[in-house]
Amino acid sequence: MGRSKSVVQDISRYRDDLLRSTPGRVRWGTNPPGTGLPDVTRSGVVVPPVGPEWYSLSVEFTELAAMRRQYRGEGIDVGALPATPFPLFTTWLTEVAGAELPEPNAMVVATATPDGRPSTRTVLLKEFDERGFVFYTNYGSRKGVELGANPAVSLLFPWHALARQVIVTGSAERVSREATAEYFRSRPRGSRIGAWASEQSRPVAGREQLEKRYAEAEAGFADIEDIPVPEFWGGFRVVPETVEFWQGRENRMHDRLRYFREGGDGGGGASWRVERLSP
Ligand SMILES: Cc1cc2nc3c(=O)[nH]c(=O)nc-3n(C[C@H](O)[C@H](O)[C@H](O)COP(=O)(O)O)c2cc1C
Repeated sequence: MGRSKSVVQDISRYRDDLLRSTPGRVRWGTNPPGTGLPDVTRSGVVVPPVGPEWYSLSVEFTELAAMRRQYRGEGIDVGALPATPFPLFTTWLTEVAGAELPEPNAMVVATATPDGRPSTRTVLLKEFDERGFVFYTNYGSRKGVELGANPAVSLLFPWHALARQVIVTGSAERVSREATAEYFRSRPRGSRIGAWASEQSRPVAGREQLEKRYAEAEAGFADIEDIPVPEFWGGFRVVPETVEFWQGRENRMHDRLRYFREGGDGGGGASWRVERLSP
């Protein structure tokens, strides 16, 4: 290991290198000038800056020198791109999970009304394969209603700590009732009851009202081991038309590689092409 030293300095010159540092290698935290002692709020995983470009750093300097060489060369290896987006997505998701970030499978889902008014929210990716990306929700929720009227959808995986994002566009379809039932059974009992108790996205008089509905559902299912799936609840599969892999690189010359589907329905038979987009 090399020398270790805490510093407070302007890191704007090499921030992009830091953004790609390996967990455990660099510790840093926000520390605007004049606030006194270093306040290291993060250890390991490096987060993008918010606000002023000043940070307290605790750095192994010899490691840092080595890392900068390494990160300069790091990007998406175009020569090794798989024929479909799914293997690379699997690799990235695995790497995010390995970095021990909270909610690695969280994604932002954007929907829109038929007249084009957008809305967004976070959900958890629960399954994916060559057919698409699946999440579960209440079909009567805002997103559920919007997708029913307009299946056009976009997903965004915000993997900032690894200077990456993946953006999917496509259309949403309901997963089969069998697949929904299988997933529903795997959820903790409390979550299954909660699905019955919550009219997701509807105004509710107060917390008490919510808890009353939960208690009623819980009492109603007291003798029932295998709680059925509410008919208003289930999965959406986002069948992708494009999948963009974004990797942050130095000098804002990021890699953006977008797969777009040329044929098929997103299932096993589809063929994909890749284009590079300007950052
Ligand atoms: C980390 C995280 C994960 C979430 N996962 C889900 C999910 O898998 N399904 C879901 O319906 N809501 C999930 N939510 C709640 C949604 O963000 C949202 O509040 C809810 O689905 C209602 O959205 P809507 O009114 O736009 O339909 C999650 C929220 C967070 C912050």
